[in-house]
Amino acid sequence: MKRYSTFLESSRPTTMARVALRAADVYATLRHPRQAWPPLPMMYEGTKSRWVYRRNGMAYFDYLRELAGLTPASNVLDIGSGLGRKSWPLIGFLETGEYLGIEPRRDAVQWCTRNITRQDPRLRFEHIDVRNGYYTPQGSRDASTATLSAETGKYDIVMANSVFTHMLPAEINNYLRECRRVLVPGGRLLCTFFMTPDEPSILGPTVSPARYQFPHHRDGYRVQHDNCDEHVVNYDEHDVRSMYDNAGIKITDIHWGSWRGNKEFLDFQDIVIGEKI
Ligand SMILES: C[S@@+](CC[C@H](N)C(=O)[O-])C[C@H]1O[C@@H](n2cnc3c(N)ncnc32)[C@H](O)[C@@H]1O
Repeated sequence: MKRYSTFLESSRPTTMARVALRAADVYATLRHPRQAWPPLPMMYEGTKSRWVYRRNGMAYFDYLRELAGLTPASNVLDIGSGLGRKSWPLIGFLETGEYLGIEPRRDAVQWCTRNITRQDPRLRFEHIDVRNGYYTPQGSRDASTATLSAETGKYDIVMANSVFTHMLPAEINNYLRECRRVLVPGGRLLCTFFMTPDEPSILGPTVSPARYQFPHHRDGYRVQHDNCDEHVVNYDEHDVRSMYDNAGIKITDIHWGSWRGNKEFLDFQDIVIGEKI
C-alpha cells in the first residue's frame, strides 16, 4: 500500500516547518484549482493547511479501499466528519452507495453541505447535538448514551477518524455498540486512536521524538492536557481490545502511526480495522 509522508502534519510547528507548509499549500492550490477548500482559519480539526487537507483525504481514500473494501456500491457512515477531509475523495466515486457524515459542529456540517453535497448529493451531512469537552462543550446530549441517526444494518463501512482520540471510555463504548448496530454483518470499521501497544517492541526503531507524551494519568486512559481531557486522549491496546470485544466487533488489524516517532508506520495516528461479528 502507498505510504503518504506525515512529516508536515506531525512535525512540531517550527519556523522551518511553517515555511515548508506554506510552500506546500501554494503548490496544492495551483495543482488542484477545482478543489473546494475550507478557509484556513476554519480548519479547526488539524493542521491549518490545504496540503494536509488534501494529503489526508487521499491517504484515507486508499485505506478505505484497501483495508475496508470500499467500492462504488458501499454505504459509508463517517462519525465526526468535520470539514470533510475524508469525504471529498468520494465525490463522484459512489455509484449506488451513499455516504452520511455525522458531526456535532454546525459550522462544519454547513460547510460540507454547501461545498460537498452540492457537488454530489450521494454525500450528506447531519448535525448531532452531543457534548465534547474540546469541540462542543455547549452540546446538550451525553455521547455515552446518544444514539446515532443512522439506519440499523445499512452500512458496509463505518469510520471514525481522529474522533476516538478525543473521546472518553464510556462514550467510545457507546459509539462502538452503535457502530455494530448500523453495520451490515461482516461490515468494516476503520477508526483511529493514539494507542500504547501491549508489546512496545512491535513498533521497531524510533527516529524522532514523540509528538505527544500523554503525561496525565486518568482511570483507564491518559491525556496530554490536564485542563481538557478530550483535547487528546491515549489508550492502552488491551483496553481498546476489550472495548471492541464488549461491543461485538473483532479487531482484524492494527496499523501503527508515526506519532511516536517510529520509523515504520502507515499514517500519523494508529489505525484499527474491525469487523462486525
Ligand atoms: C480532529 S476532528 C476530525 C474530523 C474528521 N474526522 C477528519 O478526520 O478530518 C474530530 C471531529 O470529531 C468531532 N466529534 C467530537 N466528539 C464527537 C462525538 N461525540 N460524536 C461525533 N463527533 C464528534 C469533532 O466535532 C470534530 O469535528
